[in-house]
Parts: sequence; C-alpha cells; structure tokens
Amino acid sequence: MSSSSSVPVLTIDGPSGSGKGTISRMVAEKLGWRLLDSGALYRAVGYAAGMEGLDLSDAEAVTRCAQTTKIRFQAATDGNDTHVLVNGHDATDELRTETAGAAASAIASIPSVRQALVDMQLAFRKAPGLVADGRDMGTVIFPDAAFKVFLTASAAERAKRRYKQLKEKGLSVTLATLQREIEARDARDASRTVAPLKPAVDAVFIDTTGMGIEDVVAKVLAVVRP
Ligand code: C5P
Repeated sequence: MSSSSSVPVLTIDGPSGSGKGTISRMVAEKLGWRLLDSGALYRAVGYAAGMEGLDLSDAEAVTRCAQTTKIRFQAATDGNDTHVLVNGHDATDELRTETAGAAASAIASIPSVRQALVDMQLAFRKAPGLVADGRDMGTVIFPDAAFKVFLTASAAERAKRRYKQLKEKGLSVTLATLQREIEARDARDASRTVAPLKPAVDAVFIDTTGMGIEDVVAKVLAVVRP
C-alpha cells in the first residue's frame, strides 16, 4: 500500500437524493478535507459516450471511452458548484440532468468501466483528508476508510429534494416523472452484480427523512470527531 493509506477518509454512500452531494461538500469544507464526487466521474463518462454516439450497452466501446475521457474538476470562482470539464468542455450543466444520471447508471453497471475509474478515484486521497461521495466508496474504493456513513431518506423525500434542486437550476421536470426515474436508477444501482449500492458493514446508517441539512452535517461530523 502507498503512503496515501495513512490519509484519513470519510466515505459517504447512499442513493440519489439522499443529500450526499450537499452534505459531503459541507462536511469537507468544515474538515478542510478534499472532496471526491465520484458520481460526476460516471456522469462524465456517460456524457462523453453519448457525445461520441456510442451505444451505452457496448461494454468495449464505453470502456475505451472511460479510459480516454479527460475529466477535470475546477473550483468555481463565483460561489457556485465546482465545474466539471469533460475533454476540455465545461459540461457542468449537462451533467446535472436526470438524463445524465440515467446514462451514468447504465455505464456504471459495466465492470470494466468501473475498473477504468479506480485509479482516478484513489488519486484523490491526499492530506489532510478526503470526503468521498458515491455508491461504493466504503465497500470497494476505500474499504479501509476510518469513517463510513450511509445516508438515506424515503423515496418520496429524495424525489422532492432532487425536484427542488433541479428546479433551482432552471431545469424543467415533473415530480412524478422524477420519482419514477430515481426509483428506476436506484433499483438498477442496487441490483447490479458489481459494486452494488449497499451500506458497508461498518458504516454508520443515517436516515435523513425530515432532517434539516445542518442536523445531518452535525451527525456526520460526529462520526469523524465524536
Ligand atoms: O451520485 P450521482 O447521482 O451523481 O451518480 C450518478 C450515477 O453514477 C449513480 O446512479 C450510479 O449509477 C453511478 N455511480 C456509481 N458509483 C459511484 C457513484 C456513482 O455507480 N461511486
């Protein structure tokens, strides 16, 4: 193992709309640790594959795409979200949509695609620490993480949160459609054979239904600093 294994990692896994993105960002900020948004990597590969006109179920072609796509995160200067550059193109807005989420979920079920993204994810582990947000952070990518959290919330609340988020970004969606799409995505993520969405055995399980963001952040921080 490299010396990076001494760098502390907090993994935050869970289904879409569980609040992982927001909570991970806030917790990383409070700890002064780096942040890995692993979902953005899968979204970026799904997006790049779409741009190339690939069939998302063509494992060989999509794997090649995952191996060659250049993904770069750029801190926003305007107080907004981090920008994601895919092969030099700022794809931040395109990656937010539920279409991009569904494409990500489709290509994420291909084992060789997941393998192609492993080293990129491990490289985020740098001092003073890392908050890793995803589906398999605690189970597959950082199984030795000292701190592991699994966030969830009722399906209805997760759909409502995503709806609000997408509306705020100016995207046109309906709640009923979104709830159906999210449920389909979660079912696929949980039932795939490789790295399925499931809590690590040593993860602290937090059901955020009805909880405010600040309370969730405090609960997660307490896992790291009891
Ligand atoms: O977290 P986010 O909604 O951005 O993730 C998009 C999709 O990427 C998920 O639905 C999942 O299929 C996939 N993903 C994954 N493993 C991760 C992160 C995301 O399979 N660690």
